[in-house]
Amino acid sequence: MPRRYLRKITHRLDFEKYLINGRELDENWRAESVFPVQQPLEVEIGSGKGLFMAHESVKTPDHNFLGIEVANNYAAYCALQLAKTNNEQGVSNAMMIAGDATPIFTTNLQDDSVEAVHIYFPDPWWKKKHRKRRIINPVIVSNIYRVLRVGGKFHFWTDVEEYYQTALELIKEISQFKGPFPVEEAPANDPMDYRTHFEKRTRENGQPVYRCYFEK
Ligand SMILES: C[S@@+](CC[C@H](N)C(=O)[O-])C[C@H]1O[C@@H](n2cnc3c(N)ncnc32)[C@H](O)[C@@H]1O
Repeated sequence: MPRRYLRKITHRLDFEKYLINGRELDENWRAESVFPVQQPLEVEIGSGKGLFMAHESVKTPDHNFLGIEVANNYAAYCALQLAKTNNEQGVSNAMMIAGDATPIFTTNLQDDSVEAVHIYFPDPWWKKKHRKRRIINPVIVSNIYRVLRVGGKFHFWTDVEEYYQTALELIKEISQFKGPFPVEEAPANDPMDYRTHFEKRTRENGQPVYRCYFEK
């Protein structure tokens, strides 16, 4: 059998191993079921190109990482980054779900079960009439609060000042989170200093990033 053919199949299998179809999950599905070792769980909503998932899962091997990305092609791209990272580093603490974070948070994540939730550079939905589509909305915020353990953290960064201020008001109004606590900008000496692709792009353009975290 030609060598190239074998390589292609192996690569495809690796990639699919890190990707769950969120549209097929039933109400009994639990995040714990996909990780070989039970350890603190961190969840990222809107993983984009997967930089955070790939780097953090290697940097923090004693935590599990679940990325949820609604765009199928980006979810697949993230899974490929995890497959590469796993091959290089031999870790198996990170998985991607292709699907909408809202029903997964509402149905599949249990109370007090998550160590940290991350939302970086969510889609801004600029037009006023579209703002109800923003991921930081009352349903997701109350579910983030519910699923975090006491002391667990919710990280929120954006480049849109209006979104940042509106989100902070909403979080204060409908949850009992402590914060917001400020986060200092890391020195960008190499690509590992950026948490996400959008952070890299924003900083390279010389634009400000609004960063904070909350604690339950
Ligand atoms: C502007 S991008 C930022 C990507 C990444 N966090 C970064 O900073 O580079 C926002 C991402 O959130 C995803 N997204 C939007 N709504 C979502 C939802 N309801 N559930 C999961 N992902 C979502 C989008 O498909 C997109 O990839």
